[in-house]
This record gives sequence, C-alpha cells and structure tokens, in this order.
Amino acid sequence: MEVFKEIFPLQSYLQEHRKSGKSIGLVPTMGALHKGHLSLINEAIAEADVVVCSVFVNPTQFNNAADLDKYPRTLEDDLKLLEAAGCSAVFCPSVDEMYATLPVVKFDFGNLEKVMEGSFRPGHFNGVGIVVSKLFNIVNPDFAYFGQKDLQQYVIIAQMVSDLSFSVKLRRVPVFREASGLAMSSRNRRLSDAAKEQATSLYKALQLCKEYLHNGTDLDKLKRDAWKVMEENGVQVEYLEIVEPATLEPIENISAHKSVAICIAAYIEGVRLIDNEIIKLDF
Ligand code: PAF
Repeated sequence: MEVFKEIFPLQSYLQEHRKSGKSIGLVPTMGALHKGHLSLINEAIAEADVVVCSVFVNPTQFNNAADLDKYPRTLEDDLKLLEAAGCSAVFCPSVDEMYATLPVVKFDFGNLEKVMEGSFRPGHFNGVGIVVSKLFNIVNPDFAYFGQKDLQQYVIIAQMVSDLSFSVKLRRVPVFREASGLAMSSRNRRLSDAAKEQATSLYKALQLCKEYLHNGTDLDKLKRDAWKVMEENGVQVEYLEIVEPATLEPIENISAHKSVAICIAAYIEGVRLIDNEIIKLDF
C-alpha cells in the first residue's frame, strides 16, 4: 500500500494506473477507522481496480473548535487497518497541503441544508462540499463511497455532483452496526461502556418507528414514543425527523410516500451521535 502526504505524487501514481485503463475508487474519511469504514473499503475493492482512502480531519467542516480538537486522530492504526483490508493507496495530507489558502468559495445547498445537521451545525456542509470537491479534483475517481449513516451528507454530495457535473459515480453504503444495534462511528470511542449501552436506544427508537410505520400509527405518537425511548435511557435528543430520503423534505403525511428516512441526532456524555434508517412503506 502506498502512502501519500502530498497531492502531486498521488496524482502521478494515479495517472500511471489510469493510463493502463484501471478504474479508481475513492473512500473519503476523517480517520479513526472502524468496521463501518472498512465496509466502504470492501465495496470499493469489489468494484474499482485501485482504491484510494483519504484520511483527513477537515477543519472547515467543524463549527465547534472543541469538537475538532477532540476528534480522534489514529493514523498509525488506520494505516495498519487499510493495509490489511487491501487498500491500494492512502492520501493523508496536512492541513497546509489541503488548504494552501483558505477557500473563499461558499456552497449554498438551499433547502437540503436547512434541516437536521445543517440547522444545528451552521457552515458544516459548506466545509464538506469544499473538501469533497477538492478530493474529487485531486483524485478524479470513477467511484466514490459514502456511508448512509451520514444520509444528509450523501444527499448533499449527490446534489453537488449533479450541479457541478463531477464525473464520479457515487455509492451509498448501508449503516454498519455493532451487534447491539449501535451504528459504528469514530465518536463511539469517546463513550464509556455505560454510554454505549445507553446509545443503543437510538437503534431501539428507529426500530420502534419502523414497527409504528408498519402498523399505521400516527406520526405524532411515533415521534413522541421514539423520543421517549431515548430520553428514558438518559440520552439528550437533539432531533428526530421523518424525511423523504432523496430530498430530505420533512414528511407530515406518509400516505404519498414509498419510503421515508427517520433521522436522529442525540448527545450522550457530551458526545454527539447521529443515526438513521430508511424504511420502505410499500407493504
Ligand atoms: O464523512 C466524513 O467522514 C467526512 O465528512 C468526509 C466525507 C470525509 C469529508 O471530510
């Protein structure tokens, strides 16, 4: 596995592969890798000839300096995991390499960023849009892989790819869960064992929503009871939204929809977690 800290050597390496007709898959990450990331790498390996994983804690997407400081940085372990997984190359640039100058361009994703993460983390999706477009321009991948756990991020990147005619094909990889149902996240490392147990209530709340939707229970009761499942476990819920999975429009009445996404953000021991489930309604 090749490790690149600089853009130009990575580009020459990729150029050689491209010349010999190889396809390139990109898995953008912020490191602190876990099995969820490895599921993205595995999908990439199954589809692309050369797989590049980027490991970069992107400062422009953090609206909270403490959150940026606390973000786990475990490059040595990440490299070992990526090598064992069969990744071809890792791009782990410094902040100066990625941002020789601070970008002045700003993304406005309209209604897509007025809900959920966008409304609680102002500027977050601008930073994501900037860094992901930089990575697309640097790597020029045929395929790029993103986790469904960050559903809003995926939808926003899909919009950006369409609006700016990036030639990459996006893949959305399902949420990867621990046996307890807890969605894998780099932030889980900051949870005590007790908090991890409490955090499984996010999954339990999602399962309750699924059951209620299948039983035709009204959405107000669904929201109230799912919220309660989490609060009773000491979880501080930030939002629980029912949205259309492709447009993220809030849903008031499910009868006109084939599927809905239930999206949750919550704090446990000061750690902010998100989770979601896309539920098919054609039953
Ligand atoms: O999902 C993430 O880890 C990040 O938002 C991403 C896509 C790597 C951009 O920094």
